[in-house]
Amino acid sequence: MRLTAASPALAEPIDERVASVVHEGLTAVPKRLPPWLFYDAEGSRLFEAITALPEYYLTRTERGILAAHGPAMMAQAAAGGARLRIAELGAGSAEKTRLLLRAAVERQGEVMYAPIDVSASALDAARRRIEREIPGVHVTPLVMDYTHSNGRGLELAPGPDGERMLVLYIGSSIGNFEPNESRRLLRRLRVGMKPGDSLLLGVDLVKDGALLLAAYNDATGVTEAFNKNLLARLNRELGCAFDPNAFAHRAVWNEAEARIEIYLESRVAQRVRLAALDLDVEFAEGETIHTENSYKYRPGQAETMLAEAGFRPAGAWSDARGWFSVHLAEAE
Ligand code: AVI
Repeated sequence: MRLTAASPALAEPIDERVASVVHEGLTAVPKRLPPWLFYDAEGSRLFEAITALPEYYLTRTERGILAAHGPAMMAQAAAGGARLRIAELGAGSAEKTRLLLRAAVERQGEVMYAPIDVSASALDAARRRIEREIPGVHVTPLVMDYTHSNGRGLELAPGPDGERMLVLYIGSSIGNFEPNESRRLLRRLRVGMKPGDSLLLGVDLVKDGALLLAAYNDATGVTEAFNKNLLARLNRELGCAFDPNAFAHRAVWNEAEARIEIYLESRVAQRVRLAALDLDVEFAEGETIHTENSYKYRPGQAETMLAEAGFRPAGAWSDARGWFSVHLAEAE
């Protein structure tokens, strides 16, 4: 059994939420960690790099759909001539959103835009860039962790009467939730909306397994670095002694569940010290930590999920290859 080196002293106070999911996930059988742990500053930077990879078709394909149909999406969301205000969940850098904001400004001259994200710095960068590049957009960022329920609906800064809210949830982000969690999230979203408001949801579709696998196991190893950064993050934040090179990146296409599964697989039998948790975790050779699921949707599935949450279909757009789809759904 290999023992990892003593960990360095911790510089920052530990984040209790991180500490508790790590304790729970690494003492569970089989071991798992939630995908939100990917997104520290380095993980967010690596994810941006993933979106530009040749194998990672998702971002490029969705961007093509938004570029081609953004004006039609805005027209449909504003059906009857209403003014729109736009909110966006998990906005991050809001890169593709600019296509929709431009379409909205063309329609109505000015638009209020509320990007919502846990990262204040990402929101601030997005606000500065959008206000500089698209005159007519007024950005009011909301720092919020929309993924954690407080038992109420999502509070999305409602606008004046007569204005309709359009909530963007694009980028296939919903695919990283378990089906019961995504249903719960859509219901919470619906509770925070008025009838006539709408949701624009981007989902990745089931396709050839080899294409899916390549997207999550790219030739240059950016996704591997993204996955292993999770261990580096635990070293930094919890004084853990993971050697990222002692783990391999694994991506699996689980056709029955229609999801890509991502794992970190221990290359050797090892015991790792997690100093801040006062815990030693043992790994057998070949043992895995399940770090992410990325669900892919079959035809009709997104519409069913939206209907169950209280939304009726108002439009759907896809690319010529049928790889990705964007759904507009109106709150009933
Ligand atoms: C953020 N999310 C939609 C990405 C996905 O495709 O599931 C995260 C990702 N994981 C590995 N590559 C990209």
